[in-house]
Amino acid sequence: MKIFTILFVFIFSIQFAFAQFDANYDESKVPKFDVPDVLKTFKGKKVSNSKQWEKKGRPELLQFFTQNVYGEVPGELKISSFEVVEESNNAVNGKAKRKQIDITFQKDDLTLDFTILMYLPKNVDKAPLFVGYNFFGNHTITEDVNVIISDSWARDNASFGIINNQLTEQSRGVRTNRWAIEKIIDAGFGLATIYYCEVDPDTDDFSNGIHPFFYEENQQQPASQEWGSIAAWTWGLSRSMDYFEQDSNVDESKVIVFGHSRLGKTSLWAGATDKRFAAVISNNSGCGGAALSKRRFGETVWRINNNFPHWFCKNFKMYSKNEGALPVDQHQLISLIAPRPVYVASAVEDRWSDPRGEFLSAFYASPVYKLYGKDGIQSNEMPELDQPIQNTVAYHIREGKHDVTDYDWEQYLKWAKEQLK
Ligand code: GCU
Repeated sequence: MKIFTILFVFIFSIQFAFAQFDANYDESKVPKFDVPDVLKTFKGKKVSNSKQWEKKGRPELLQFFTQNVYGEVPGELKISSFEVVEESNNAVNGKAKRKQIDITFQKDDLTLDFTILMYLPKNVDKAPLFVGYNFFGNHTITEDVNVIISDSWARDNASFGIINNQLTEQSRGVRTNRWAIEKIIDAGFGLATIYYCEVDPDTDDFSNGIHPFFYEENQQQPASQEWGSIAAWTWGLSRSMDYFEQDSNVDESKVIVFGHSRLGKTSLWAGATDKRFAAVISNNSGCGGAALSKRRFGETVWRINNNFPHWFCKNFKMYSKNEGALPVDQHQLISLIAPRPVYVASAVEDRWSDPRGEFLSAFYASPVYKLYGKDGIQSNEMPELDQPIQNTVAYHIREGKHDVTDYDWEQYLKWAKEQLK
């Protein structure tokens, strides 16, 4: 059995490495493609003001992305109970309060729990808050020994000490580099994070996580237009928002949803579907996130649907090697967030995510912001490295690889302070 698993992981990794190598990275080979006009309805009618946008433009786009890209949530499920399982007034060098809250959902004989880890600045009464998922457990984002280790499924990672799909003490603090906690606290913001696999394990398996809570009798996987994992993680973020609305330490009107990579695809979808998020940050989110699909640079719709068949709804498979047939592109996903602030960020060596495609999405979404008198990205010329454009629609490309760095956080903090004044 073990040998099969090893073989499978090996073949998958080779295939994946090959896919990245094999992808188009040549600008001159990007096919000619159309960018659907964000201010035109599917019937070709012009949207000329925010009222028309809200009445016609936005709803039809939201419906398209829901039924054909990320998938619809098949029902409603409220938090059954929550419990602060741990807290302290002396975290982050005495500057912050730490809280760990267990959120529980129950339906028939099913139970699901996820734990929110929060650091809140002590000197702020009701703090504005960043919320974002982490990839390997709450205990990886900090050296703090009090952070509870999740017992949910985790992808094996020998260098992080994750074996047999179990998180361990060995991985405590391995991702501190991606979470500038002290800078966040010093800037007067709180940080909340959740281990994403507690909501839905990131495997092509729909028998676990939140999906089964909504199955009809004998249903084993979501229907073609129903949610994949990105929509499930998004659902979890909205439930965390339900909790923040009840937490008197949080300013619920200033919750910024943040995510990196697959979780940056998730933060965009969360911002699009849940208007309670005051702003959205999508870091290196690439294909199915900020990057335009029709550009076919780096990862493509076909690659992503093959390598991660569970992320999007089944209907999205129709567009594998068939991006031309998509009546929308990802700039229209960003436009769904308008007029709320949105920040798209790239890294120059992260060509798999197509930095130019990420930038262009922010640019082509901007006319919707203009309908509200907000500044988006005004030119289709990409800015130089490390020269952020920080309007209501913001963008930067930094040096380096696919990652979240202190540089990224410094930009997000500066921008968020200005936008949420
Ligand atoms: C893979 C995948 C990307 C994704 C990334 C990540 O590289 O192809 O679409 O963004 O994983 O989440 O780290």
